[in-house]
This record gives sequence, structure tokens and C-alpha cells, in this order.
Amino acid sequence: MEQLARFGVSMAPELLEQFDALIAEKGYANRSEAIRDLIRGAVAERRWEDEQSEVAGAICIIYDHHGNAGRLVADTQHEAYRSIVSTTHVHLSHDSCLEVLVVKGRAGELRSLADAVTRVKGVKFGRLILGTTGENLP
Ligand code: NI
Repeated sequence: MEQLARFGVSMAPELLEQFDALIAEKGYANRSEAIRDLIRGAVAERRWEDEQSEVAGAICIIYDHHGNAGRLVADTQHEAYRSIVSTTHVHLSHDSCLEVLVVKGRAGELRSLADAVTRVKGVKFGRLILGTTGENLP
């Protein structure tokens, strides 16, 4: 098991109370695990701010099955095939499709790809989920 570093944190009792209520609601076993996740999230966001950072994440879109959205979304993905690791398509209902694109590459390029698929006419929802391992990806 990797060696863990310890550090102390000072804060107002009211803030700590709110934090404890929040982590209890989310089901964390202890403060350390909750703080580690918050720090990983902040590190991921910082890496995604640097357009040249190598990062990984997912793009989730929901679009109208009828019309041209499916073809236009596929065209956009073919243009960015180097950044897309895999795609999952779910037929949500008679009218709607959900797709999750697992993406890996430079943060700037992945943001552009997320914008491109989200602005396609007929795409009703689009979100980029920022991920990082905290290390440089190969
Ligand atoms: Ni479908």
C-alpha cells in the first residue's frame, strides 16, 4: 500500500459541521476519503484548464432519434476519431438516443469535441465529464 501523508486542517466549527453533514449524506466512511475526492476533483479541473494537458473523460449527449442529429453526431465523431476511445449508444425511448463517448487526449481538443457534438441541431443535452488520473497519460 502506498505511503500516506498526513496534514492538519483548521476551519470554523460551523463549516466543519456542514461538511460532516454533507459527507454523511453522501455516505463517506470518513473525512479523509471525502477530502481526497475533493482534492482529486480540484486537480482534475485544474488540468482541464490547461488546453495542452493530456486528460481523459466522457461526453454524454441525448438527441432526437428522428431527423439528422444521429448522422451529424456520427460525422462529428469521425472527424475526431483519434480522441474517442469508445462510444455507447442506448435507445432511450421511441424518440430519444443517449450516447456516452469515452474520450482521451488534449483538454482543449476534448472541450472542442464536446462543444461540437452538443451544438448539433437535435442534440437536447450535452455534458463533458472531466476526469484525470492525476498523472500524465501515455
Ligand atoms: Ni438510438
